Amino acid sequence: MIELKEVISVNRPIDHVFKFTSNFTFIEQWDPGVVSSVKLSQGPVGVGTEYELALCYGIFRLKMRYRIIEYEPPVKVVLEGMGKSFSATDTILFSPTESGTRIEYSARLYFSKLNAQFERVLAPLLTLYGKKAMTGLKNTFNHKIKQTPNAALFPSGSALPDFLADRAIFPGMIGFSQLGYRISKQLWKPNPELLTDKTVVITGATSGIGKAAALALAERDARLTLIARNRKKALITRQEIMDQTGNANVDFWVADLSLMTDIKRVAREIIRKKARVDVLINNAGALFNTPATTGEGFEKTFATDLLGVYFLTEQLLGVLSESSHPRIINVASGGMYTQRINVHDLQNRQGPYDGSKAYARAKRGMVILTMGWGKALEPKGFCVHAMHPGWVDTPGLAVSLPRFHRLTRPILRTTAQGADTIVWLASAREPGLSTGRFWLDRRPHEVHLFPGTLESKAERRLLWEQLTRLTANFK
Ligand SMILES: NC(=O)c1ccc[n+]([C@@H]2O[C@H](COP(=O)([O-])OP(=O)(O)OC[C@H]3O[C@@H](n4cnc5c(N)ncnc54)[C@H](OP(=O)(O)O)[C@@H]3O)[C@@H](O)[C@H]2O)c1
Repeated sequence: MIELKEVISVNRPIDHVFKFTSNFTFIEQWDPGVVSSVKLSQGPVGVGTEYELALCYGIFRLKMRYRIIEYEPPVKVVLEGMGKSFSATDTILFSPTESGTRIEYSARLYFSKLNAQFERVLAPLLTLYGKKAMTGLKNTFNHKIKQTPNAALFPSGSALPDFLADRAIFPGMIGFSQLGYRISKQLWKPNPELLTDKTVVITGATSGIGKAAALALAERDARLTLIARNRKKALITRQEIMDQTGNANVDFWVADLSLMTDIKRVAREIIRKKARVDVLINNAGALFNTPATTGEGFEKTFATDLLGVYFLTEQLLGVLSESSHPRIINVASGGMYTQRINVHDLQNRQGPYDGSKAYARAKRGMVILTMGWGKALEPKGFCVHAMHPGWVDTPGLAVSLPRFHRLTRPILRTTAQGADTIVWLASAREPGLSTGRFWLDRRPHEVHLFPGTLESKAERRLLWEQLTRLTANFK
């Protein structure tokens, strides 16, 4: 048997430290020996919650299944780990201090007689990784929050390597794949923030990236309001989120976000029911390959991906401004790099309809709105961000770009990877220090790569004027 014991102090309140540390869904963030952790059981974290951990100690790769056997918030959690090579009992004790929380972590590792040789080799490695894990946990809570660097260097605040990679196009596009995600991840600081008592309104959470984001936000304790167009899917999604995370604070409203009357109705309901909204995530979106017009007479791509986003956001600004630090996150797309906004044909009616072009222009418009809101709402304490999720394997992508989906499938991101930056923008402290930027993998990127896509001031003004005019009758 080996016993490891470490004591650390962190500068966060005990309730927060307990919730984050005892939920092994987050262990990958602070324990360098953990490659991945999956919660196997359903419901809230407590006695009986199980996790499967993939571990890597030097050249050794192991799987362990952990189960919580004692759970006394916010002072004690005991987990039992079972693996092929050894079993473990981890006891974590929390106590309040003047400046935060003291964590006493002890782990007892038991090797079977058959594995005595193995014990001799593995023991020093496990001790080393145990110490590293404690340093990781300490740094997770205590790391200094810095404004994302080089804000003044490039127009969008991107760092030099990102600026060059974006401009080199090909490496920039590799960055959209799963490989790009993995490379970027190496540089991330852990994000220990929870969204306890925060209300997040998210659109398009019944599928793909939005669903993965909603699950991750619920795991971080947020109160969620979903806006979905399909009641049955909304009911199923809400149940899935509640079952998987144990977070019961999930409600939903039904609205087709390409219809301004629906948006008006749902915004009114939200304002009536919620005293405050802290985060709005405009994620719903789609690329339509054939032209269509909504019942209200708007071209469908424009209505769904731009006009609706504008109208919903404008409608919710009042209730958002009740939050001490409101955030708006707009899910855009790297597709916008290819297009300039066409303010004289926002509804794609001149010339033959091209779905990809219409989609890219709408997303371009969304990024222009993000920068405009960023500036205008900064004095009120808002942070407004746009982001690109990368190329993500979702039902939406498979339907809208079937050939691209088939060809790129092996390198596409998972929905959780696509949702990562949304969750980070909604919860972490760093993105609370800037506004009006376009993000990919937790770093700001350029918004224009090709000459000719940069809109003029007059075009920006015209865009706002037209969106205001087109929604005026629905207010
Ligand atoms: N996948 C990618 O590679 C990728 C890349 C860049 C950007 N994005 C963006 O990421 C966001 C999510 O896309 P996804 O790939 O996850 O697609 P998805 O799987 O099709 O999910 C889209 C979500 O939006 C909802 N939605 C679409 N139109 C709506 C409407 N009119 N009213 C209300 N809800 C509506 C859908 O509802 P239903 O479930 O009822 O269909 C669904 O929940 C989109 O904004 C997309 O443009 C995706």
